Amino acid sequence: MTGTGLPAALLREFGAVVGGAHVLTGDAAAGYATDWTGGFTGSAPAVLRPRDTEQVAALLALCAGAGVAVVPQGGNTGLVGGGVPLHSEVVLSLARLDRLGPVDAEAQQVSAGAGVSLQRVADADPRLDLGILIASRHSATVGGAVATNAGGLRVLRYGSMRAQLRGIEAVLSDGTVLSHMAGLVKDNTGYDYPSLLAGSEGTLAVITAARLQLVPRLADPVTVIIGVAGPGDAHALARRALDGVGGLVSAEYFTQAGLDLLTQHAGLVPPLRPPTPAYLLLEAAGPGADEELAAIAADRPAAVGTGAAERARLWAYRERHPEAAGFAGVPLKLDVSVPAAQWVRLASEVAGVVREVDPGALVITYGHVADGNLHVNVVPGPAGAAGGAPGGDGRHEDAVFLFVASLGGSISAEHGIGALKARWLPLVRSEAERALFARVRVSFDPAGILNPYVLPR
Ligand code: MLT
Ligand code: ZN
Repeated sequence: MTGTGLPAALLREFGAVVGGAHVLTGDAAAGYATDWTGGFTGSAPAVLRPRDTEQVAALLALCAGAGVAVVPQGGNTGLVGGGVPLHSEVVLSLARLDRLGPVDAEAQQVSAGAGVSLQRVADADPRLDLGILIASRHSATVGGAVATNAGGLRVLRYGSMRAQLRGIEAVLSDGTVLSHMAGLVKDNTGYDYPSLLAGSEGTLAVITAARLQLVPRLADPVTVIIGVAGPGDAHALARRALDGVGGLVSAEYFTQAGLDLLTQHAGLVPPLRPPTPAYLLLEAAGPGADEELAAIAADRPAAVGTGAAERARLWAYRERHPEAAGFAGVPLKLDVSVPAAQWVRLASEVAGVVREVDPGALVITYGHVADGNLHVNVVPGPAGAAGGAPGGDGRHEDAVFLFVASLGGSISAEHGIGALKARWLPLVRSEAERALFARVRVSFDPAGILNPYVLPR
């Protein structure tokens, strides 16, 4: 044994695969053990940094043989504690699998290693773009985005990460490499396991590369922020935009409470004066987009951006919302969705639902109106924070998730279950479904070493 708790012989075998410089321990491993929000901190006996699929396969075979649990990690931008070693797992960092292939102009596809950032994929061809747009795109990687089925700011137009997936390369826990990367649009030759791996949160296999469909780059997009009276108004306008704005790509919601934090702490200048209770950001492209958006805004206060700089300025109000609650404390980041008809109730009532169990809590909401998705960021009040990490004793999650379940919704729209939500899964998935999940999991990972504490086994 070593100070890491791992047998010295195993550490030597890891080093023989990746080189000693890519087996990190002690202080060198610490940065891999805390998530982006600071809400989840564990400890890694070792961080392994393979450079290719063969090394991933060899490392997993060693871990399976030794019964050592592994947490795969990409850009470490996850929000549910699914990519950090909360139970002293070995971290398998895919950051060095950063090979981006040439763009296949005919198919409008590209093959990318798991460690390639989403921004690099988006920049691969000036005429093409990645359909997935998330605020963390400069750090978030292809492997992590597939493993969590990332959503983001353009799902209403292009779908989530699973919809961009045309092929996958992945390694099972016994070291078997699966590769299906031809990028066929039509391919009915058995189980669609790439789709199954999308959203599997590192529990079934380690994704090493993906074949991604690209989309035409938007021509002359127009962005508008409209001041609205509240969730009902935002939802009604977004529905109207979905019907009446042909080139709509985004319909995003945020409130004055979140904006106040950003103006106070991040130096943003308010987009509209006087302030309004809430805001709807719409973006559209194509002929007539500007007139169509103006018709949606009608006589409401609005700020319009056309050039890249002006659009980026408007987008910052929404894209920086993930940081907003962090200025007031360590936030619990709850990410929920409900059927379209229930979104207004969710967005209007959820803060009250939280305050019933923690009157001092700060609740910041924002999200993707057209997807029925709301992000509920909670900074517990002084009393609510007692009892454990992150956020306390689970009362906030209980309150929000029970409310969401009563509306027929999901406790994770886009961030995943991770460590944060595992105990609430039975609220939204039946016993029969969870038993099927467990059987799938055992067939992919009989050794039970892949992210063992994420999703119930
Ligand atoms: C977003 O929509 O901004 C992301 O899902 C990140 C977050 O919710 O914090
Ligand atoms: Zn989101």
